[in-house]
Amino acid sequence: MSTSPEKNKTILSGITPSGRLHVGNYFGAMKQHLDFIEKGDAFYFIANYHALTSLRDGELLKQYTLDVAIDYLSLGLDPGKCTFFAQSDVPAVTELSWILGSLCPVSLMEKGVAYKDKVAQGLAPNIGLFTYPILQAADILIYHSDIVPVGADQKQNLEFSRDLAQKLNNAYGDELLRLPEPYIVKDVAIVPGIDGRKMSKSYNNHIFIFDEGKVLKKKVMSIQTDATPLEDPKDPDSCNVFSLIKLFAGKDKLAEIREAYEAGGYGYGHAKKELLTLFSGYFAEARERRRELEKDTDTVLDILRDGGRKARERAETVMQPIREATGIIRTH
Ligand code: ADP
Ligand code: TRP
Repeated sequence: MSTSPEKNKTILSGITPSGRLHVGNYFGAMKQHLDFIEKGDAFYFIANYHALTSLRDGELLKQYTLDVAIDYLSLGLDPGKCTFFAQSDVPAVTELSWILGSLCPVSLMEKGVAYKDKVAQGLAPNIGLFTYPILQAADILIYHSDIVPVGADQKQNLEFSRDLAQKLNNAYGDELLRLPEPYIVKDVAIVPGIDGRKMSKSYNNHIFIFDEGKVLKKKVMSIQTDATPLEDPKDPDSCNVFSLIKLFAGKDKLAEIREAYEAGGYGYGHAKKELLTLFSGYFAEARERRRELEKDTDTVLDILRDGGRKARERAETVMQPIREATGIIRTH
């Protein structure tokens, strides 16, 4: 179900720092997050506990966490207008996750499609991966989130969150948790990778948002296309290069490129060069900001610290009544 966001609603979303962020992450998730900031009280966090389910290198996790923070800030996230933080700065989410897990039938998690997909892709089937949606539910429910903008692949996880909120409310009291509405972002096409499959770090077919120079050129030039000869007309709608161009080009430019495809005499090499120019221009400012922020990680950590404090305060207002209702004593 989709809902229209309203100003006074709490909006929440998270991104897992399990690698550097790519163009699919940007158009499929981050851009929506940035657009939503104006539409309510937004909470965005870096899901570093979730990343532990697939990453076993502490230094790398720290690096990816900081990278995601720098990426968001470079791409225009204004920390004055939302609460931006690391999941681990709100340890009470793991506490709520345990409480929800104690109410969650194993059979509910056994329905999880993301778990099955990840195991099929070769990830170790650990308990963290299996109960990933319970931690995700805690992330959402602990701030009394109203709206959770996510890609279509997260729909089932949001249904689990609603189920788990309902279970806790049924067991301990109706008002304890709020049932969030998913906001499944429509019109976001799956961004293809350089081999034409869904762009994903698991397929190693990605273009990172902050790729540049030779690395970027090499990736763009290796995007798979068919063998239509240069002089022949081409179908833009079945071309991977055009699918990517669509994300970066303005209306007029796009119409011009479409015409060139259909007229013939315009090769895939031309289209790739066009994509390279559009891509570089699109992220030029963000790239500049990133260069500055990379040199100033103290500021980035201060921003996360500030967001973490605000998020913890909100989380405590939701957790305290739950501790009382469930009988969890705290002496401090
Ligand atoms: P990956 O497939 O690289 O592991 P993630 O699953 O970590 O990416 O993706 C984080 C978010 O980015 C997802 O919720 C999804 O909505 C979005 N996303 C990832 N890849 C794409 C893509 N190719 N097209 C559109 N959205 C994507
Ligand atoms: N599972 C999400 C993803 O892979 C990341 C995430 C963790 C999340 N907790 C969340 C998203 C809470 C929205 C709300 O993209």
